[in-house]
Amino acid sequence: MSDGYTVAVVGAGMVGEKLVGELRRRRFPLRELRVLARSARRAVLDGETFEVGVAEPEAFEGVDYAFFAGTEGEKGAAVQLAREAIERGAVVIDNGSDFRLDPDVPLVVPEVNAGALEGHHGLIANANCSTIQMVVTLAPLAREFGVEKVVVSTYQAVSGSGRGGVEALEGGRKDVYPKQIAGNAIPLIGSIGEDGRTTEERKMLQESRRILDLPDLEVHATTVRIPVHTGHSESVYVETTRETTLDEVAEVLAGAPGVTFSGDANDFPTPLEHAGDSGVHVGRLRVSGRSVAYWCVSDNLLKGAATNAVQIAETLVGARV
Ligand SMILES: NC(=O)c1ccc[n+]([C@@H]2O[C@H](COP(=O)([O-])OP(=O)(O)OC[C@H]3O[C@@H](n4cnc5c(N)ncnc54)[C@H](OP(=O)(O)O)[C@@H]3O)[C@@H](O)[C@H]2O)c1
Repeated sequence: MSDGYTVAVVGAGMVGEKLVGELRRRRFPLRELRVLARSARRAVLDGETFEVGVAEPEAFEGVDYAFFAGTEGEKGAAVQLAREAIERGAVVIDNGSDFRLDPDVPLVVPEVNAGALEGHHGLIANANCSTIQMVVTLAPLAREFGVEKVVVSTYQAVSGSGRGGVEALEGGRKDVYPKQIAGNAIPLIGSIGEDGRTTEERKMLQESRRILDLPDLEVHATTVRIPVHTGHSESVYVETTRETTLDEVAEVLAGAPGVTFSGDANDFPTPLEHAGDSGVHVGRLRVSGRSVAYWCVSDNLLKGAATNAVQIAETLVGARV
């Protein structure tokens, strides 16, 4: 389409604003950009004032791509409006978790499984933020060495809970987390299920299996919220199928799409340094036999959400990834 696409961003929160920014920064071919939310208003997003419209079925008339970044669940934007948008001709890319395990909906991290987009039915799911950065690092290891088991602990930023999370850290809002977040570490993200896993931990298990196409992969996650504004960090331990060496793994990670690898143990990535860039940063690599351990950092609002979603659209329109 030579004159660009009409794009709607649903949600004017933490992810919605980054979507606006990434669509422009990555020069997605835009003819028109609409921002929709629960209420109409003027809002400054990515440095520009937008007339935010109400997210209702008619607002999707003429839209080619709709990026959903509203709330999840039965009353959330995607459940209420994604089908309406698709019926009006839009391709929907959803940042929430409502459709991620639906076999009819591809769950895509372009560096890992862009092929899953083929034959999609109008709705594509963006993966969970902690899962995205982990699978970007696991996919090349799985290809080269085989991956049997992953043990991961996360250190997740408050912006991962949306504007409310930032207000809890910076303004002391009390209704967002089960305990005070300032000066603390909270090992409970989402709610606890019957198996003792939290929803976030279950997402890391189920979504990793699906994206990597490894249905039997063991993923033991402990997900922790920490008082960092933006950028999730992960301590990842991987058991590979075949024995490997530090040099071999370093070479594979250094050449992996989307990964920036540091082989200098003193030059480790941190969330403060990498908030605002869209890469997945790996350091502190240790390897012994079939055991591979590393530290990995990525901006939860960018590669963990907006950048990944825009990369999906770029893949669909045949632009760069
Ligand atoms: N934050 C992250 O790191 C991250 C990463 C990956 C995925 N996600 C997912 O992305 C989505 C957005 O997260 P966020 O962090 O941007 O949240 P947020 O900062 O709380 O913003 C939510 C936005 O969604 C809008 N909204 C809520 N319900 C809506 C509805 N029914 N119709 C239209 N708009 C609606 C709100 O509109 P009003 O402003 O009018 O109230 C608000 O602008 C969530 O599903 C989240 O799970 C977030």
